Amino acid sequence: MTLLTSQSSPADPRVSNTESRFLRACNRLPVDTTPVWFMRQAGRYMPEYRFIREKYSLLEICYQPELAAEVTLQPVRALSVDAAILFADILLPAIPLGVGLEFAKGEGPVLQNPVRTIDDVRNLRPVDPETDLGYVMEAIRILRGTLGSVPLIGFCGAPFTVASYLIEGGSSREFLRTKAMMYSDPRTWHALMERLSDVLAGYLVAQIRAGAQAVQVFDSWVGALSPQDYEDFVLLYSQKVLRAAKAEGVPVIHFGTNTTTLLSLMKRAGGDVIGLDWRIPLDQGWSGLGGEVAVQGNLDPAVLFAPLPEIRCRVDEILQRAGGRPGHIFNLGHGILQNTPVENVRAVVDMVHEYRLDQ
Ligand code: CP3
Repeated sequence: MTLLTSQSSPADPRVSNTESRFLRACNRLPVDTTPVWFMRQAGRYMPEYRFIREKYSLLEICYQPELAAEVTLQPVRALSVDAAILFADILLPAIPLGVGLEFAKGEGPVLQNPVRTIDDVRNLRPVDPETDLGYVMEAIRILRGTLGSVPLIGFCGAPFTVASYLIEGGSSREFLRTKAMMYSDPRTWHALMERLSDVLAGYLVAQIRAGAQAVQVFDSWVGALSPQDYEDFVLLYSQKVLRAAKAEGVPVIHFGTNTTTLLSLMKRAGGDVIGLDWRIPLDQGWSGLGGEVAVQGNLDPAVLFAPLPEIRCRVDEILQRAGGRPGHIFNLGHGILQNTPVENVRAVVDMVHEYRLDQ
């Protein structure tokens, strides 16, 4: 592979030593070394997290800003990542909406009052993120006081992914009820997406005003859709959320999985950074996006279970494909899996930071 540009050296006058390399990469500015963080970097694979989870449920951690802040900091301390992601969940807005949320042991999320008819949509309660999700804003304020120079990422689910949980009542493989609503009852679908895009945009804006320095919109399951369905049923609503965040002046990351055929539409919907999963080679995904956007990814989370030499080989391949071009943030293609060896995650951070193109 020919390498077109070389990674900037720390002596490069365009590279600031004080401004975060993560935020610089989001803005496609040169960096001293590639920034790295991980989706789901806080969680059950970490002993410190499991220790807190022995005493508190997931929702109890979210509701107590001091605890949420502590759990957010755990991976920052243990891994030396270049960004913190607020500890919360994409489904928290379901609570003030009146849909109900529970995390049943071993079953994932359960939404007690699923949304399936136009009346269900009309009965969704009004949400004021500043008060109804005030505990999230408080965690952000605490974190900004303790994180120092490490930037804090806020997040929300994208309208499609959140709608799928509200409609299905929990996790799903086929998204049958979700698609059935789209295809059979489009009026209800559009009414729900309209409501959700409003709530999620307001929630993200509130997080930014509370101090989040970048935000990520998780459309984790949007890859279940064809490009045409994405365009007809999803794009405008995601765009509304992404634009509202962008107007607050912070970098916006637009993430999905199984999105190889959707990437250019996702770019049209918005985002300064587009998430790539491992199903597409990073350089191919990036050039397909047309260049004038940053990318985040794209190691397969399963690789973290491999021996270190194999991990290194795959980390190096991604960095080689990025070729030192400004605007690459190293991450996995999806969240860290349970039982991932912490020492391998830590090793990846060092591999990314120590990588030099000419090696
Ligand atoms: O470290 C971080 O990334 C921040 C925290 C975070 C959580 N959820 C905490 C959490 C983030 C960013 C999320 C996002 C989220 N939540 C997504 C999008 C990201 C993705 O993985 O695609 C989705 C789809 C959800 C919904 C959700 N929350 C599910 C399906 C589950 C159950 C899955 C499981 O592993 O049991 C959750 C629970 C959840 N949210 C956990 C964590 C750390 C599980 C751990 C626990 O029970 O303590």
